[in-house]
Amino acid sequence: MVSYKELGLVNTREMFKKAVAGGYAIPAFNFNTMEQMQAIVQAAVETKSPVIMQVSKGARNYANATILRYMAQGAVEYAKELGCPNPQIVLHLDHGDTFELCKDCIDMGFSSVMIDGSSLPYEDNIALASKVVEYAHKYDVTVEAELGVLAGVEDEVSSAVSHYTKPEEVIDFSKRTGCDSLAISIGTSHGAYKFTPAQCTRDPKTGKLVPPPLAFDILHEIEKKLPGFPIVLHGSSSVPQDEVDTINKYGGKLPDAVGIPEEQLREASKSAVCKINIDSDSRLAMTAAIRKYLAENPSHFDPRQYLKPARENMKKMYIHKIVNVLGSNDKL
Ligand code: G3H
Ligand code: 13P
Ligand code: ZN
Repeated sequence: MVSYKELGLVNTREMFKKAVAGGYAIPAFNFNTMEQMQAIVQAAVETKSPVIMQVSKGARNYANATILRYMAQGAVEYAKELGCPNPQIVLHLDHGDTFELCKDCIDMGFSSVMIDGSSLPYEDNIALASKVVEYAHKYDVTVEAELGVLAGVEDEVSSAVSHYTKPEEVIDFSKRTGCDSLAISIGTSHGAYKFTPAQCTRDPKTGKLVPPPLAFDILHEIEKKLPGFPIVLHGSSSVPQDEVDTINKYGGKLPDAVGIPEEQLREASKSAVCKINIDSDSRLAMTAAIRKYLAENPSHFDPRQYLKPARENMKKMYIHKIVNVLGSNDKL
């Protein structure tokens, strides 16, 4: 058993309290590779932002759970080395789907876990989340639970349709589970194709898809029912069109990729939404930079040559999100 406190990590409790009161959101960036970790830490240090580094089940399978844990521990030391004496870094399990997985992460030094029982019947979701909360709180680890189902594929929890969170359930759910934060469904979804062209209109000038707005009415109803309670938005990549265009220009094929407009995420950040999950935008930034670099330098084959601009491009994206979208800069 390793406590996250020994690793210099923090849980989300104080961070979320301040974010809700201050009208900003904490970035929750997924990481699978060293370059993503470095870019996240550099961005957080340069902007003086707290940050949540999250690990999915897929990331654990790809990179190895132990390695990712040590990378997060390394992230704390790296932040200090970059001149940030007291970094606020959370190591969070994203979309944990079993009690055993959450327990394993808690036991190996995670400071926060998500138990995603959103695809289960209501009572089963409560029972699973409660069991995780009971274990996690013994070690002062914070727990995110989810109510409502996002469209698309949530890690290995899949759902073809989206069921918005029912505001009438949130008081009962949060009380009975004892969760520290609640992920809700108000129209976001995972991946680079958040809406079908049929769900969107087309901008007559650019030909780009304009998605339907998020269900802010549901968010506001939830806020009224649970004043000050930390709310989480998954599936919040914006799918920047310049990155999509670069990918397509250099041999990629991402037709009609569309995300959540950043103005809407900015608006959500000012509410009780205090954690915003971004993964796909990092994948797009990395892929765009690598495709461009390799197309322009066909004789290069040293991974450091193309991973360097990829890391720079991700860092630029993370800084942009922190400063211009979530507003978590200068909050350390
Ligand atoms: O919500 C899902 C995250 O984007 C993680 O995706 O399972 O492919 O690592 P992944
Ligand atoms: P995106 O696919 O929109 O980046 O969402 C990531 C996410 O919700 C991770 O849990
Ligand atoms: Zn998610």
